[in-house]
This record gives sequence, C-alpha cells and structure tokens, in this order.
Amino acid sequence: MERLKTGIRGLDELLGGGFPKGKTILVVGSPGSGKTTFAMQYLYHGALLGEGGLYVSMDEPPENVKSDLSSFGWDLDGMEKSGKLIFVDATPLKRAGGSEEELEEEEYKIQEITFQGLIRTIRKIVDEEGISRIAVDPITPLMLRYETPLERRRALLLFFENLSRTKCTSIVTTELRTSVFRRSFQLEEFLSQGVILLHSIFHAGNLIRAIQIEKMRGIAHDVQPRPYRIGRDGIEVFPKDKIFG
Ligand SMILES: Nc1ncnc2c1ncn2[C@@H]1O[C@H](COP(=O)(O)OP(=O)(O)O)[C@@H](O)[C@H]1O
Ligand SMILES: [Mg+2]
Repeated sequence: MERLKTGIRGLDELLGGGFPKGKTILVVGSPGSGKTTFAMQYLYHGALLGEGGLYVSMDEPPENVKSDLSSFGWDLDGMEKSGKLIFVDATPLKRAGGSEEELEEEEYKIQEITFQGLIRTIRKIVDEEGISRIAVDPITPLMLRYETPLERRRALLLFFENLSRTKCTSIVTTELRTSVFRRSFQLEEFLSQGVILLHSIFHAGNLIRAIQIEKMRGIAHDVQPRPYRIGRDGIEVFPKDKIFG
C-alpha cells in the first residue's frame, strides 16, 4: 500500500512509513490536545512536498485558526498565496438548523449553507486545484445540526463516502469531552479507515500527552500509546518511548 508522509516527526515510524494513501483517518482528542496542530502540520508538510492541501474549518474562521497557529514556524499565508493550501470557511454550518441563506459570492465560499453544499464545494476544489490532502477540523459542530441519530448517521455516512471518493488522504478531527479511555465509541470511528487517539493523562501531578494508533486498516502499526509534545515545530512523537518510564 502506498504511503504518505505525515509530516509529524516520529509518527511515520509508528505507521511503518506514513498514512495509507487515499484513506480517511480520524484524529480524536480533547480540546487543547493538538488536533488542529496535527491537521495543519499534515497539510503544511504536504504542501512543502508539492502536494496540495485543503483545510475545511468547521469551528472557527480560517483567519482565527491561522493566527492561533502563528507561533509555529509555518508560512501558511505564503502557501495559500502560492495555491498549495486552500482554506474553506465552513463555520456557517455550525448553527444548528440554520436557514439556507446565501453567502456572499467569493471564490470557493460555500454557496449554500447546507451539508450537501459543503460536500459539493470540497469536491469542486479537489477537482480544480489538484488537492491530495484534506483536513476537516473538527467534524463535531456539524453533528450538532441534526436532531436525530438517524439524521446524523446519514449525514456522516454521506460525508465519509464523499471524502473517500475524492481519492485524497483525509484527516477528520473529532472533539472529545471526556477521557479517551472513558469515551463511548462514536459512529465516525467506524466510518474511518484509521483512528488516532490523542490522550491527555494526569500522572503524579503531571500532564502527559500520549498518541496512540488505535486502528489503521490494511497496514501493520504500533499500538502502544507513545509520548508526544507540542513545540515550536508543531507535534513531535517519541516512537520508542513508553509513557510511564
Ligand atoms: N508554539 C507552541 N509551543 C508549544 N505548544 C504550543 C505552541 N502553540 C500551541 N501550543 C499548544 O498546543 C495546544 C493547542 O493545540 P490545538 O491544535 O489548538 O488543539 P485542539 O485543536 O485539539 O484544541 C495549546 O493548548 C498549547 O498547549
Ligand atoms: Mg482545534
């Protein structure tokens, strides 16, 4: 199976080379665990390799996301100007049951504030701009639009199907409000081909960050939680270390 470099130092080693190409990988973690950093580092690194990246911002306008990530040494604006990174503002979708109002016409703004509109926008950009990496960050607000589990299920299925059809290698992040250990399995975990957990563990008065590849279909991978840190260059994983000594 062909692999894609993740751009996250140490992670490729756990994956035996990188993400399996064309798959959708879910990154699960609590607020502050580094999901957005992970997603952007993946896209930015791809852009450096000449692979076009699409960032779909669901929680905050892209400008806010960029400014939150400005302490990392990544030239996101430069990449955007050169067309290697494209940002889509999908935050209007967040409003539960929002009316189908029109957005101001601008290149690659979502035309209709509907789920279908978002899917169409993503597919159009992928086709026209030669995108090979997608990050949807986070999928959570989208789910709040739907009142019944059945509606949520349909929407998620449709979304994952369409990501898969793009042939891109995609990261979808999902926000967790409880400990990774205590969570109940969510539908999106069943729909993705890979699941990566970002744990925050309190141990002896210290916060320990640990990353764990829970599943990655079709490849052999490390299954242990491994320490990671967030520093000036983004996320770094220590693939040989154990979390407790
Ligand atoms: N330059 C930096 N150096 C070290 N840590 C940083 C830096 N910038 C951000 N962080 C850390 O990264 C965290 C934010 O990660 P983020 O990707 O926004 O998480 P999430 O999307 O899961 O909420 C912050 O809580 C902060 O601890
Ligand atoms: Mg985030």
